[in-house]
Amino acid sequence: MSAPARGDAVILDPPGPEPVGLGRFGEYGGRFVPETLIPALEELEAQFRVAWHDDDFRQEYAGLLAHYAGRPTPVTECHRLSERLGLRVLLKREDLTHTGSHKINNVLGQALLTRRMGKHRVIAETGAGQHGVATATAAALFGLDCTVFMGAVDVERQALNVWRMKLLGAEVVPVTSGSATLKDAVNDAMREWVASVQSTHYCLGSVMGPHPFPWMVRELQRVVGDEARRQCRELLDGADPQYVIACVGGGSNAMGTFAGFVDHCPDVQLIGVEAGGLGLETGHHGAAMTRGVPGVVHGMRSLFLQDEDGQVLEATSISAGLDYPGVGPEHADLGARGRARYETATDDEAVAGFQLLAETEGIVPALEPAHAIGWLAREAGRAVPTGSTVLVTLSGRGDKDAAQLMERLGEL
Ligand SMILES: Cc1ncc(COP(=O)(O)O)c(C=O)c1O
Repeated sequence: MSAPARGDAVILDPPGPEPVGLGRFGEYGGRFVPETLIPALEELEAQFRVAWHDDDFRQEYAGLLAHYAGRPTPVTECHRLSERLGLRVLLKREDLTHTGSHKINNVLGQALLTRRMGKHRVIAETGAGQHGVATATAAALFGLDCTVFMGAVDVERQALNVWRMKLLGAEVVPVTSGSATLKDAVNDAMREWVASVQSTHYCLGSVMGPHPFPWMVRELQRVVGDEARRQCRELLDGADPQYVIACVGGGSNAMGTFAGFVDHCPDVQLIGVEAGGLGLETGHHGAAMTRGVPGVVHGMRSLFLQDEDGQVLEATSISAGLDYPGVGPEHADLGARGRARYETATDDEAVAGFQLLAETEGIVPALEPAHAIGWLAREAGRAVPTGSTVLVTLSGRGDKDAAQLMERLGEL
């Protein structure tokens, strides 16, 4: 089979493995929610399980990915960046999808499920606004009502995406509680879901939350990794990259990417890059894999930044999409089993990665994947030996971050 290229039909690989029990990944995962939500989660789980094995559903989903979202996305060989770093760097270009990030892959699948369940409204949380924009887009496409919860801090730093969501017909609700960022937006979205579950689907944006979300969102994102594996093999004469790297907020672009390699390519090293914020030593960061401890929050057992009393701490990151004090449970398990490794890049390193990719390749990344680029630039010739072949998922484009970076970098 030749590697997927732009303009080809999207071919979905067979479904991946289902978590055992009630959404368990090792000691993580599960379903910890109020009684009122159990029937909705059970219905979603059953509907997704049937739909995901149903040829008609898969065909419609693949058609939307091709003709609406613009898949397959290319893998780009980065000649100048490779020369600069002494590596062979390939980028999986999710920045080239409609709406500008991987979030659209998940949202189109969940919109199809919303219609299948006979619901007419979607709600969503958003950090960077990319998931909110993707949800508002799918809602417009399917004629669904849409409400997006967004921390007031993020409303401020992602003004362009707030405007886009409103243009698309969504109501945007600024959340002022707590740190007024993604964690608080999830809290309010869950509260609203409890109140409106009969008519409303909660279109969760990452591989987190109660079962079936971590499994379902990973499956809806696995097209990223499955495509990339085949594209890399074509570029690399049948070989796999030695390293596969992606940034980790809740973990959906990383999990979708890893899913294409984790079982198929046991020798490929999987690396997730979290928000190092102002530096791990300052305590102001978003590194739940690196510094988190087990706990139950937002319906799942996973790793969270917490104080000694188990109170969830505020995350800090320059990037709204990584500004979350937890991580999806499958990552917690991959980390515990040593199958994936989790590293951090600080705000400054992410900004350096943002500039480096722009200058060497003419590609302006979103600040989230700029963390992966920043980490790679720091570790080239160190943790990643000179001459290595590396695939990085470029989860989104940087337009949304331009105003924030203009302020930070000033005159260039
Ligand atoms: C471009 C981009 N990348 C990454 C993320 C982080 O989310 P996840 O870890 O679920 O991929 C976001 C979140 O908004 C995003 O917008």
